[in-house]
Amino acid sequence: MIVAGVTEELRARFGKARRVAALTGAGISAESGVPTFRGGGGAAIWEWRGRPVSELSSAELLASDPVTVWEWFDHRRGLLRDLRPNAGHAALAGWEARFPDFLLATQNIDGLHAAAGSRKVVELHGSIRHGRCLRCARRVVLPDSLPELPPRCACASPLRPDVVLFGEMLPEGAFERAEAAASACELFFVVGTSALVYPAALLPRLARRAGACVIEVNPEETELTPVVDATILGRAGDVLPAFLTPGV
Ligand code: OAD
Repeated sequence: MIVAGVTEELRARFGKARRVAALTGAGISAESGVPTFRGGGGAAIWEWRGRPVSELSSAELLASDPVTVWEWFDHRRGLLRDLRPNAGHAALAGWEARFPDFLLATQNIDGLHAAAGSRKVVELHGSIRHGRCLRCARRVVLPDSLPELPPRCACASPLRPDVVLFGEMLPEGAFERAEAAASACELFFVVGTSALVYPAALLPRLARRAGACVIEVNPEETELTPVVDATILGRAGDVLPAFLTPGV
């Protein structure tokens, strides 16, 4: 079912639900000014300093030239510095307190869910605001300006960006937590993702198979549209708050 806004039926399901989970992608941050990778939502960066993003964000380059990888992520952190969470992030942060059982899994590394106040978040692809020690594995909040590249841990070993690079597995336990929530929820939201990148794209399918009502929020139809219960065609910042505020 494709709808233009939150229907009374969907709002009633939302009102009764106790176990809710959500998967977000780049589209939730589009209204904050973060470009998406695919679909509408801004001009994605595919190249920087003449090198393709697939190479800059790769485990191979991190091993051979960590300084370039750090420069690339430092550049991206700089682009995010002045961006703020939007109404979509705020709505999801509010849902945490509303539902006894709630988990948000995001593919985004921008940290905007946490900035909006979300605490029950699984960052499937890591966080650009953190580094991770290559020796002791400590996770470190990065300062705005890095004194050296690569930055160093308190144990003096170099840090790496705490993000999932091409050719890498997801952080240990991250997918499993999201999978458990997807399999146990009554309502599953898929917001702002083209659902083309795995294993994240499995989550709405798992939720559906386990009996959840799956609601997609996206201004465009995606590969998921034919398999979900409802696709609400619209922007996350307009649609998500409307579950609680009818008539918006
Ligand atoms: P995509 O860029 O593939 O998809 C973004 C989706 O957001 C598209 O379907 C848009 O139509 C939709 N969109 C745009 N504006 C929106 C809005 N205001 N509200 C709601 N939706 C909107 O992003 P992801 O699916 O997140 O992985 O991409 C998945 C992964 O691909 C990323 O995490 C990244 C990339 O490779 C890694 O870096 C590991």
